[in-house]
Amino acid sequence: MKKLIDKLYKARSLTREEYKELIDNRNPELADYLFERARAVRIENYGHDVYMRGLIEFTNYCKNDCYYCGIQRSNSKVQRYRLSKKQILECCLIGYELGFRTFVLQGGEDPYFTDEKLVDIIHSIRASYPDCAITLSIGEKSYESYKAYFEAGADRYLLRHETADPNHFNRLHPRELSLERRKQCLYDLKEIGYQVGCGFMVGSPYQTTDSIVEDLLFIKELNPHMIGVGPFIPHMQTVFANEDAGTLELTVFLLGIIRLMLPSVLLPATTALGTIDPKGRELGILAGANVVMPNLSPISVREKYSLYDNKICTGDEAAECRHCMQGRIESIGYKLVTSRGDHISIL
Ligand code: SAM
Ligand code: FES
Repeated sequence: MKKLIDKLYKARSLTREEYKELIDNRNPELADYLFERARAVRIENYGHDVYMRGLIEFTNYCKNDCYYCGIQRSNSKVQRYRLSKKQILECCLIGYELGFRTFVLQGGEDPYFTDEKLVDIIHSIRASYPDCAITLSIGEKSYESYKAYFEAGADRYLLRHETADPNHFNRLHPRELSLERRKQCLYDLKEIGYQVGCGFMVGSPYQTTDSIVEDLLFIKELNPHMIGVGPFIPHMQTVFANEDAGTLELTVFLLGIIRLMLPSVLLPATTALGTIDPKGRELGILAGANVVMPNLSPISVREKYSLYDNKICTGDEAAECRHCMQGRIESIGYKLVTSRGDHISIL
């Protein structure tokens, strides 16, 4: 199996059969070998730097009903909230003073935030923070909407494809959502000029090695700037309440593979990874990840943006999260940096 890792290291890709073989035959020794290679590749590209993004969860209203997601529209137990433009700008100010140079506006697909309102918010952040990157993570929109946000000053867009296997996609989402549409959105975003992030959950219900291989092949084809990969974690008010969570072991193995496939990709060690294991994010960094996304949302709304159970850091002020993160990153010999942290191709 080490030969497959060597091949991946050199060729940056494997065949469908080879990915499957590598994933199905993984073991701790092989994982260590993979991570060593993945770290070498990330150090070649980004040194020991870890970029931080300030996450602002500005609405938990959503018109979608993704079966895995705690804030899906049919969860009537969620206390819904929206942040005002003023509140969003306050989050940015707090973040800026703490050294954040990327703000990630994330939310459900909330029709209240029309294009007009979003463009106004993006314009205001752009005007106040010309040296910061603005990332959006607000789901599927039309080409025109994506273009309007880009022209208003947004730089990056995160839209996980969730799974590149169409049958699997349909088991995770109601009929009104389709993989085809999701992929089209990603291609639209790329064409407009965004730095684009796709991604998927590890261990989501009905996921198989074949569907993971499909994800890897799609990622290689799309060649995104960022990839969000974190474990699925059940939410007690969803139909997947009794499903198992994804594992740390498989998640970090896939982070290692992805680092070898796309050496310069921006790859977060996600909050979900930190939720399933107290050292999850550190282990993600040691497997090749190079981004962390501490929360800048006001504490009063944190618990309400509950995508899955037991989400960490819901009670900590932004400053606490930032300093906690710095300690964690330094404890493993890496450095939390305050630059925008663009993809190498943009510099
Ligand atoms: N509405 C936007 C979208 O769909 O891209 C952004 C918000 S959505 C909640 C962000 C991501 O959360 C999703 O892409 C999904 O992968 C992740 N997520 C949702 N439910 C989850 C769960 N139960 N476990 C782990 N991740 C989850
Ligand atoms: Fe819309 Fe989760 S179902 S954010």
